[in-house]
Amino acid sequence: MSGWRRLAGPFGASCVTPSAADLSAQAIVEALNRYQLLVFPAQTLDVAGFEQLARRLGELDRYPFAAPLDASEFVVPIIKDRHEQHNFGGDWHTDTSYLEQPPSVTLLLAQELPAVGGDTLFADMYGAYAGLSGGLKFFLQQLQGINSSSLVHDPAGAHAGVAGDRSSLEVAQTSAQHPVVRVHPATGKPALYVSLVHTERFAGMTRAESLPLLEFLQQRATRAENCVRLQWQPGMLAIWDNRCLQHLPLNDYPGQRRAMLRIILRGERPLAFTSDRNG
Ligand code: SIN
Repeated sequence: MSGWRRLAGPFGASCVTPSAADLSAQAIVEALNRYQLLVFPAQTLDVAGFEQLARRLGELDRYPFAAPLDASEFVVPIIKDRHEQHNFGGDWHTDTSYLEQPPSVTLLLAQELPAVGGDTLFADMYGAYAGLSGGLKFFLQQLQGINSSSLVHDPAGAHAGVAGDRSSLEVAQTSAQHPVVRVHPATGKPALYVSLVHTERFAGMTRAESLPLLEFLQQRATRAENCVRLQWQPGMLAIWDNRCLQHLPLNDYPGQRRAMLRIILRGERPLAFTSDRNG
């Protein structure tokens, strides 16, 4: 029997059942469809247990831009050490949207945390879309975004020099065209699917033409009332749905170490949302 405590107004819930491993996959997936972000405080998962839990929720995927653990090709350490300045993924984004089939879900397990700081912010992309005018919604439904790894993973990209990033290694840059408004395959709800760090431009438009609208959408999506702030505790596990959320790991703990383990689940090709009315 599981219970959930809501985290904040827009989305997110914390599980009151002590161990995530005791919940059925169906209970977790249903809760994820409902709350978008699930938090499981104080878990006692080792690498094998973490992978086993993730495997029950879907097909595991490999992340091309960081080296996994020796113990598992699917578990990627996300570490910012004391001497490092940049953190991994330190801009608002949804995971790896430059792949043809971006990960549906991410699982992140806290191993070592700074004494203070290192929270992760999440933004509701259902809410981001729902809050727009009918005219803009209808316009965005006609658009496709060109999402590219090069904005962050090029040698001169935003994540060059980030701990664990292997952009400098021989990993092919990738790019994928996805609908700007995608429909969630389980909930049927429309969500905005662009981000400033991954969406280079709209198909058929130049970057200069696209950027003002991308900036407007990013700013609207991440306004405070559309966000939830997750304060990590040791052993905490978060599971979130990349199809309807963006996230931002805060880089506010200079001189301290933060170490997490991450697994991503393979997603489907994003499907376009269309409606025959301006809504
Ligand atoms: C990520 O972007 O997947 C990492 C999030 C975090 O470190 O909080």
